[in-house]
Amino acid sequence: MKKRVLSGIRATGRLHLGNYLGAVKGMLALQDDPNFETFYMVADAHTITTPYNIEELRRNRREVILDYLAAGLDPEKSVIFQQSEISEHFELAFYLSSVTTIAKMQHLPTFKEKVKQYPEHSTMALLNYPVLMAADILLYKGDQVPVGIDQEPHLEVAREIARRMNQDYGTDFPEPTRFATEGEYVPSLTGEGKMSKSVEGSFINLTDTLDEIKAKIAKIPTDSGVGTLDQNFDPPREGPLFGVIRFVELFQGKEKAKEYKDLYVSTGIRYGDLKQELSEAIFNELQPIQDKRRELEQNPEYVNKIIAEGAQKARTAAQQTISEVKEKMGLK
Ligand code: TRP
Repeated sequence: MKKRVLSGIRATGRLHLGNYLGAVKGMLALQDDPNFETFYMVADAHTITTPYNIEELRRNRREVILDYLAAGLDPEKSVIFQQSEISEHFELAFYLSSVTTIAKMQHLPTFKEKVKQYPEHSTMALLNYPVLMAADILLYKGDQVPVGIDQEPHLEVAREIARRMNQDYGTDFPEPTRFATEGEYVPSLTGEGKMSKSVEGSFINLTDTLDEIKAKIAKIPTDSGVGTLDQNFDPPREGPLFGVIRFVELFQGKEKAKEYKDLYVSTGIRYGDLKQELSEAIFNELQPIQDKRRELEQNPEYVNKIIAEGAQKARTAAQQTISEVKEKMGLK
């Protein structure tokens, strides 16, 4: 039997370069691998675990699907769907919550950060976020999960829950592992931390024009262009060179990055030229996605059909698992 893959992105806005490199590229790689059966959803229900705007959510859950399709997710090869349409996710999350302690959920760094960010919204839904995510994955018996490195604590929870369920009830959930991509860590344009939708000025949108990309890349903080590197010939991770070199590696290749590092320890890098070339390389990768996206926007009926068919296929797989779990747990 083919191994299953599940992944999702929250419906908090249009996708940016960090999502594309960290998650979507992994989704594409597994979709094209005949050893896997791939399920890709928009995690619209996870969006309501923090304060949100209703109209924005309604728009964004579709935007993410459009971005998926534009980036190359193929409904012929993958099941593409909206999480909240499959109510089995919530049903399984409840069953799984019976083997999950409150203490464990309260101590997760992701929970603590969100509570700090929204002190008035320390809700049951937020506490339950990782359990719902485990349900997303286990509902499809997901084995591989292409997501960014920041999701590792959530995957650890999913593995623990899978083990517990298998031990206590004799289910056969695989312990899901993260499928990492080369671009799993995309630095912020601000020069601090990672690219994130919630940090203004940190990200490039998949829809940005060449001029917008140039303006954003121009803002990445840099140094004088000359300096020293460590024994692995790498710049310090939080230093001014790290961000630009990482982007060069991701969009122009390791060879090109090496050329710049050679310059850094000799005659110096001219960041103006580097940034110009880098911006063009990024835009070249995004342009076909943008063209495809415009095409899809002209064809809402086609997109509706994909969403409806995706829901049907996802539901069939989901009902199978729910039926097994209910049987094992004595609910049937
Ligand atoms: N928590 C993930 C994120 O913030 C989104 C997500 C929800 C997800 N359910 C999932 C990712 C299941 C992978 C698998 O990016």
